[in-house]
Order: sequence, then structure tokens, then C-alpha cells
Amino acid sequence: METKVLPADQEGIAAAVKLLEAGEVVAFPTETVYGLGGPASRVDSIQAIFAAKGRPSTDPLILHLPDPDLARAVADGWVASPLPEAALVLAKIFWPGPLTLILQRGSGVHPEMTAKLETVAVRCPSHPAARKLLKSFGSPLAAPSANRFGRISPTDAAAVLQELGGRIPLILDGGPCSVGLESTVINLIKPIPEILRPGGITMEQISATLGRRPTLRSGFLQKEESQTAPGQLASHYAPATPLYLCDTPIQNLAPESFHILFSRSPKNPAAAALVLGADGDPGSVARELYRALRIADASGAKKILVEPVPDGIWAEAVRDRLARAASGTAHWRGKGWEVIPRQPA
Ligand code: TXA
Ligand code: MG
Repeated sequence: METKVLPADQEGIAAAVKLLEAGEVVAFPTETVYGLGGPASRVDSIQAIFAAKGRPSTDPLILHLPDPDLARAVADGWVASPLPEAALVLAKIFWPGPLTLILQRGSGVHPEMTAKLETVAVRCPSHPAARKLLKSFGSPLAAPSANRFGRISPTDAAAVLQELGGRIPLILDGGPCSVGLESTVINLIKPIPEILRPGGITMEQISATLGRRPTLRSGFLQKEESQTAPGQLASHYAPATPLYLCDTPIQNLAPESFHILFSRSPKNPAAAALVLGADGDPGSVARELYRALRIADASGAKKILVEPVPDGIWAEAVRDRLARAASGTAHWRGKGWEVIPRQPA
């Protein structure tokens, strides 16, 4: 299949809508990462999404809403009532934006979209092209990140092409993503909200809005547990090159390695290294992380070495992705990485 790349302008969006109306899937920009969208009401397009990604059908998709009004999503049958109060508050403050709410599934959601769970993940993205696409199509899109399963999420159109070229008909190019990491996923089914995936909206922002601190799910799951608690697999967002998390700041750059550093220039600029957040903008580390992992992967280095992630509003999400990129071999504890002992086989 030929994969077209079109600018995410009026013409490109019209072409995308035409494909969606025929039940096809298209990649489109969001503020977090690029998504691979298909009509949420059609089982054939949901299956096409899983097939293009090579994603197991036990890992549910996020429903992307054209409208930030959660009550409307309930009226349209996407989300079941009654809505928890916290959902209304969070949607009002953070939508459109990088926050995904886990709620009770409405009758309009096909069970294959949610891996047969009774819950559904919903968000309303803020990227102007995503909003225009959703509004023009007029109905929610099921959309995971536009990468092959387990790989690094794409933050620009070239990365989508690298991941899914030949597997999907169209990529809308809306430039690099402004957030660069996936949305925060928060489970509102239980009495105490639980963050399942740290991301675009921080724990502090959510705590301040709800007036209470949600719990943060930590720990990675073995494969068989993934259906009841999806998206927690140890190995995810992973480059093909082995990635190692260093205990202390990297002083000397090693040969045949690619180094990911934070806010400091390397001593040996001839060795392969990228400094994230060098511009002092707190969002830059998150925005640049996946691009850096792709560059590291393509560099031909035998390993990727990452120094400790400095504290900051994005640290939680960045450490979570790096721990998964290192195949779940370590957790961030207090001030550094703690190695997770391997389970006996
Ligand atoms: O920023 C984002 O959220 C991007 C853009 C494209 O919107 N999407 C994204 O989708 O990251 P995906 O499919 O790569 O990740 C969705 C995460 C997965 O970890 C999935 O397991 C979890 O959300 N999830 C989806 N439905 C769920 C549910 N009903 N219960 C618990 N977790 C769920
Ligand atoms: Mg993903």
C-alpha cells in the first residue's frame, strides 16, 4: 500500500475524512504524539488499527472526542452515566488537552475497541489539526499512538512514516508535537483516582484541581496480566538498541555508545550525544525525548546510555518512559534508578 503524506491543511483533512468515511485509518497529529485514527463505531476500522500496529487485541484504544463536552459524550452513548464528579471537573479544566479519563463504557462503544473491558479511555485532543479532523468527520475516532506495537511513539510525520509506511493510506503532517509524550491516563472508576500513565498533564495539576492527590500506579506487569490492567507492560516505548539507565551523571562519553544527557554539554563533543532541555524550557525534555531515542537508534551505536533525569514537572513522565525503554529493568526511586531483580523464568 502506498502511504501518502499530506499537510494537515483543509485539503489534507478533506482527504482524511473521505478515507475515514470509507472505514479506512489515517495518521494525524495531536499535541502529545501522532495518532492512528479510525471511526470508533466501525469494527472493521478498529481491526485495521490493531493490524497496522501489530498490537494485541487485549490492549484497548483511546476514544478521541470532537467535543470537550463530556455530558455530550454521555448523551451520544460513548460514555455511561452517571459520570463521576471528578470527570466533569477534570474535563472542564483540561480538555481539550493531554488528559485521558477512564470511565464506564457507553453502549455505543464497540467492545473490540476496549479489549472487551467495561471501561473506556476518552480524551479530547487540543492540536488544531486533530480538532479540525474530528469536527469535520463529526464522530469520535479510536486512536492509539501511530507506532508499531512496543516501539517509540512518533512525534513528527517522518517518524510515523518510518513506523507505518506501507501499512496505512495517509499521514497528515502537522509538524512536530508540542508536548512530545503521551497523555496522562487517569482511572476514575475507583473511589480514589489513580494515574495509570503519567504524561502531558502533571500529578500536581491534577491534585490542585481535584483537591486531593491521586494514587500513581507503579510497577510493571507480566504479559498475562495485561488485560485487566492494560498499558503497563514492562517493555514499551523501546528503541531497538539496548538502553541503559546510569546511576550518576555521565562524565566521560563511551565509544560505540549514544548518550542522552540533560542540560549539560558533553565533555567530548566528538562522541555521540544529545543534550535534552538545553534551552532551559521545562517542556523541552519531554518534547525531545522520543526524537532523541529515534536518533540514538539510527546512529548505529551498540548501546544507549541515559543519565539520571533531573527533577522537574516532566520528570515523572520522562522517567516512566525511560524505564519502559530500558525494558522495565529499573524503577526511579527517590533520587535514582533502582534495579528490578529479574523473576526466575
Ligand atoms: O496521547 C495519547 O494518549 C496518544 C494520542 C494519539 O492521543 N494516544 C495513545 O494511545 O497514547 P495508546 O493506545 O498508545 O495508549 C493508550 C493507553 C494504553 O496504555 C492503554 O492500555 C490505556 O491507555 N487504556 C486504554 N483504554 C483503557 C482502559 N479502558 N483501561 C485502562 N487503560 C486503558
Ligand atoms: Mg502507544
